[in-house]
Amino acid sequence: MSSNPSQLRLGIAGLGTVGIGVIKIVEDNADLLSARTGQKITIAAVSARDRGRDRGVDLGAYAWHDNAVDLAGDDNVDLVVELMGGSDGPAYALAKACLAAGKPFVTANKALIATHGKELAQLAEGKKAALRFEAAVAGGIPIIKALTEGLSANNISGLHGILNGTCNYILTRMEREGLPFDEVLADAQRIGYAEADPTFDIDGIDTAHKTAILAAIAFGMAPDIDNLPTEGIRNIVSVDIDYARELGYRIKLLGVARQQDDGVEVRVHPAMVPLSSPLANVMDATNAVTVSGDHVGPTGYEGAGAGQGPTASAVVGDIVDVARGVWYPPFGVPAAELGSPAHLGSEAHIGTYYIRLKVADVPGVMADITQTLAREKVSIDSMLQRGHADDGGVYIVLTTHETTEEAANAALNHFNALECVLESPAMLRIEAA
Ligand code: HSE
Repeated sequence: MSSNPSQLRLGIAGLGTVGIGVIKIVEDNADLLSARTGQKITIAAVSARDRGRDRGVDLGAYAWHDNAVDLAGDDNVDLVVELMGGSDGPAYALAKACLAAGKPFVTANKALIATHGKELAQLAEGKKAALRFEAAVAGGIPIIKALTEGLSANNISGLHGILNGTCNYILTRMEREGLPFDEVLADAQRIGYAEADPTFDIDGIDTAHKTAILAAIAFGMAPDIDNLPTEGIRNIVSVDIDYARELGYRIKLLGVARQQDDGVEVRVHPAMVPLSSPLANVMDATNAVTVSGDHVGPTGYEGAGAGQGPTASAVVGDIVDVARGVWYPPFGVPAAELGSPAHLGSEAHIGTYYIRLKVADVPGVMADITQTLAREKVSIDSMLQRGHADDGGVYIVLTTHETTEEAANAALNHFNALECVLESPAMLRIEAA
């Protein structure tokens, strides 16, 4: 801690949008932060790749480090803020150096925490140093604080999150404007909404990092990104969005963590959620999380999941906690007690499903379909057939009663082998989020 207990001097690694946002809050709200913490929060040093770049703020008063890891050993820095990103490399090296030295470390880096969270938490706990990462999940929504503090009295039964604004924005525009995925993605990239390489977002990896962190806190288990079943939104097509709506659902990319009888199930995939559910009505780039606890019941949180102000707000909230002397194990329980996640393979998932088939419009097709489902003991909840597709096929859309994913997949494989089925069937999970 600072040689002067009435001040907290920050070192900021990474001066992109969020880093500059943190500087703005620390400068603009200096009096407020001081009143709330009893300390003067100042910036002592910064580090970024390009010293010469104009970032629109005056950095002249701050010491500059070419190597971010040097912030850990700078005696004029009491707390390091890491905003560089990446699960390994300088961010990981800086985190380890800070925590090993007992220096508080605040980060927005979901990949780092999802990958090395348990090890870093152990380092932090060994030195009673703060390791905080509110901004890593859902930007400005204080969901980590909600789980570690506000809901700490509860056994959590499940959580569902819309945790990637890019995907939610794409799905929203596909539905509103009837556009195909590729067209909306290209447009989102053109206007700077989606990254030039959107893989992390649209393939669900970003959501998986965030879900792993939330699941770790909610269920007291180590984040395990490597074994988390993850699917993105690349294969979502407009026809399924339209049928979802007709059936009373909307398609969302969800992070799900749920207590089951034999372990905690954690997964990321697109799902159909009832139009009446809170998550169905979260549109554009907004993020939202619902959490259910045994005593509190269902709770919900919604807000901006990215952007300069919201993400910097979460970072500075963590800094305020450190300034106030708030400390607890980073995942809410000692890292040594974090269990191994009992990821149930998605095959074991029990749920209800939407299946869409394109079939030849000939006698006996319905019988083939219902026999196939009966053979796998998959019970039909609803079924509809809609007019001719361009190539003469018709769509048959059905929803199932509860069944295992294994049985639903087996039925899909049989459908693929039927002569009357004209293209690979589509399947989506239905979640009562
Ligand atoms: N790329 C993320 C999103 C924001 O689109 O929500 C940062 O986690």
